[in-house]
Amino acid sequence: MPTAQLLALTGVSKEFPGVKALNNVHFDLNEGEVHAIVGENGAGKSTLMKILSGIYKKDAGDITYKGKSVSIPSPLEAQKLGISIIHQELNLMPHLTVAENIFIGREDRRPGGIFLDNTKLNEAATTLLKELELNLDPTAIVGELTIAKQQMVEIAKAVSYRGSVIIMDEPTSSLTPAETDALFKIIRTLKASGKGVIYISHRLEELAKITDRITVLRDGEYVKTLDTAGTQISEVISLMVGRTVEQDQRPTNRNIGNEIVLEVQGLSDMHLLKDVSFNLRQGEILGFAGLMGAGRTELARAIIGADPKTAGKIILRGKELKIHQPSDAVDAGIGYLSEDRKRFGLMLTQNVTFNIILSSIPRFANKLGFLKMKSADGIARDSIAQLRVRTPSERQYIKNLSGGNQQKVVIAKWLTRNCDVLIFDEPTRGIDVGAKDEIYQLLTKLSNEGKSIIMISSELPEVLRLSDRIAVMCNGRLTGVIDNKDANQEVIIELATKFSDDLTTVN
Ligand SMILES: Nc1ncnc2c1ncn2[C@@H]1O[C@H](COP(=O)(O)OP(=O)(O)OP(=O)(O)O)[C@@H](O)[C@H]1O
Ligand SMILES: [Mg+2]
Repeated sequence: MPTAQLLALTGVSKEFPGVKALNNVHFDLNEGEVHAIVGENGAGKSTLMKILSGIYKKDAGDITYKGKSVSIPSPLEAQKLGISIIHQELNLMPHLTVAENIFIGREDRRPGGIFLDNTKLNEAATTLLKELELNLDPTAIVGELTIAKQQMVEIAKAVSYRGSVIIMDEPTSSLTPAETDALFKIIRTLKASGKGVIYISHRLEELAKITDRITVLRDGEYVKTLDTAGTQISEVISLMVGRTVEQDQRPTNRNIGNEIVLEVQGLSDMHLLKDVSFNLRQGEILGFAGLMGAGRTELARAIIGADPKTAGKIILRGKELKIHQPSDAVDAGIGYLSEDRKRFGLMLTQNVTFNIILSSIPRFANKLGFLKMKSADGIARDSIAQLRVRTPSERQYIKNLSGGNQQKVVIAKWLTRNCDVLIFDEPTRGIDVGAKDEIYQLLTKLSNEGKSIIMISSELPEVLRLSDRIAVMCNGRLTGVIDNKDANQEVIIELATKFSDDLTTVN
């Protein structure tokens, strides 16, 4: 059955001050199709989608929608046409409920309106969530949900507009494999009903599972559109980054001292952690693997004093630390790079320099307490070069950087703070394959220089590639610590599911 074209973009360009974000880009989408857009951080994917959803105005180019040339001057206009978007950075109202967020702006509370009262609103949400098989309570307050659950609210909201085109900008970056499968099921249903889905992801292994075609962008330029069937991931990668990237490596030539830098003894918290003990040696990368919810982030937060512990000791170079709040940990030289950069890692309305020196402000203050901006800018420029952050200058606002480049700034911030022990929580989330490789090299270099690193990651190839030893958690407990040479995916998965039969006892 021939399918009709839903959407075509031709010759689209967009410039921001100092950045040519898109240059003469083409893209099209058919009914019942899932079309991926891939490219490195800053390639222009989100910008193209924001033009399509009426958030940005294009400088040049044409958009044809269902055979007619259209202009999309506002998000409301996009909605009216039937184009909805799930944004890369979540866009929900934290103090409102799930149902209120899904139907925000559409709650007609006049007499006779469809959502006259909360009961009706919640009923409508319940029906929708059931249809999508999403396990969410419509009355839950969104700010209290995990990022993954919030992501699902975004998905439900986008579907609820019942449009013809749904844009998903990195919808799976914080989802578990099971949640990702649930999303793919939704996508297949949308596809079967003739809708078009534009799918953006840095998890390239997903492309083969869910997409029909793949369009590659590089540096704001259109590179190529490929049929997914018959395309190898390695081809997509080399089109994206312009070089080949080594995959499936293991650490080599590692020289780790015997000195134990950090010792955690019998750590427990109120909810999940049970008696966790391990140690970290000088210059070592200790990977933490486990399923989502295994307690790895909770462990990191308990170590740095972000959440209270009910038992346990944190010993740094033989001395027990009294950590009551995160600043105590930073003062002791323990840095934590949060998995949720928007909430904990960055000040979005400040510029790159300010964010990079954020946790080292005393170092950049003169006697009168003023910031030495010249030296701060210099450090920021060095970090930008070292991490290849794509930004026109160090004074660019963080909110104007692409998602992956924001993540690099969080890393730069902790490198500037010069901590001995660094805890990286999902350091490559939302980061493209080329930049991932750079971050791997950077972590290895830092550890070779003597820093001790804890790396929490849900990507097993990443854990295996970087870690000297791998600690596996399940259900709040440490189920094993293995040397890299004894580790493989099967062994890790077995340890990660060791106590899964009593999962029901955990909230
Ligand atoms: N509002 C803005 N002001 C200035 N520059 C911007 C703005 N929005 C995006 N840019 C710049 O445009 C370029 C493309 O950014 P975009 O967010 O489209 O990248 P992306 O492909 O989505 O990357 P990622 O994979 O990291 O999400 C980047 O260099 C970014 O810094
Ligand atoms: Mg993006």
